[in-house]
Amino acid sequence: MRSGEAALSQLFVTRNWYVAATSSELRSEPLGRMICGRRMALFRDAGGRPHAVSATCPHRGADLARGRVVGSSLECPFHGLCFDGAGACTRIPSQDPGAPIPRALRVPSFAVAESHGLVWIWPEPDDQPPHAPEVPEFLGLPAPWRLSMLPGGRLCSGSYLNSLENALDDAHLAFVHKRTVPGASERVAPFRIEIAPDRRGYWGIADMADIIAQDPAVADVSAGGGLLEDLLGRFAMEQLTPVQKSYRYHLSGNVCITTTDASGPRDHTFAFFTPSDAEQTLLFGGVLRNHSLNPVADWLFARYMPALTSEDAKILGELVPEARGPGGLARPFVIRADRQSFPFRRIYGDALAAEGKPVPWALDGAGAAA
Ligand code: FES
Ligand SMILES: [Fe+2]
Repeated sequence: MRSGEAALSQLFVTRNWYVAATSSELRSEPLGRMICGRRMALFRDAGGRPHAVSATCPHRGADLARGRVVGSSLECPFHGLCFDGAGACTRIPSQDPGAPIPRALRVPSFAVAESHGLVWIWPEPDDQPPHAPEVPEFLGLPAPWRLSMLPGGRLCSGSYLNSLENALDDAHLAFVHKRTVPGASERVAPFRIEIAPDRRGYWGIADMADIIAQDPAVADVSAGGGLLEDLLGRFAMEQLTPVQKSYRYHLSGNVCITTTDASGPRDHTFAFFTPSDAEQTLLFGGVLRNHSLNPVADWLFARYMPALTSEDAKILGELVPEARGPGGLARPFVIRADRQSFPFRRIYGDALAAEGKPVPWALDGAGAAA
């Protein structure tokens, strides 16, 4: 199992911070998560500090995430061996309390940090991160900005590549999210791409005037999903006239789409993607807004993100089997609208190569280009 995990972890950049959980979903019970191909047990010690260790008990392979927290250690549910946040065995209940505990009896541990309501993980075992998580600035926006966030991580169908490229892709909105994003245009705005100077992310920026002139429904904010949502949306949702739409990708797995009108940024729809295994990705998502500040809109936004993510997971889970894997379709035919998502391949691919790992997709990404 351990060697299987090591092989899977080769598919992902592991010297990197990702979101492992929301603060609210990591309580006094341990939490099991598959992250970058490794089965992990997250837990809080007696002082509330979060930790993450490999979930495979080295004694007989019980799942430590099914155990319980005792003081500052995680107790295995099978024979009660305890491991602290650094992975060291602290107790073997079946032997005399004074008897020595072998030093080699330990589990790999992973660096964890907690910030802005999120628990971040560095999924390289027994490693020392050289920097803290790079929390995007929009998470710290004060009132009147209002946050509607999924209460916890969602394990979604879709390899890491397919999930990220989908989040960066505007051309699927009018088809996959016809009901949840009623104003989505079939036509994709011409985004200007800017690569961050540190090459750990990029932006796409589009001026919306031309698009809205051709298709005024684009100005609709998200209120779709059904008859009730449509009806309530008419009363509860402020109508924005976007002048700019932008998105940002960062190596931490963050994609954030920002709508700006004449008065400035109005909402940030964001997701943090964390690789799980070869064909599944964990998603932590939310919307931060400074408009439509009423409880009915809160209710609509709370329904919006689960609906969006379910629609994406459905289309990605139903791709033909040879396209579902970590490298996607071997020779995708690239159309113009793909330009906004393709820098992801370069940035994440370069980070993989920097760790000496194979890049499972073509870097130019194309069998042919339109
Ligand atoms: S399997 Fe964990 S203590 Fe035996
Ligand atoms: Fe989508």
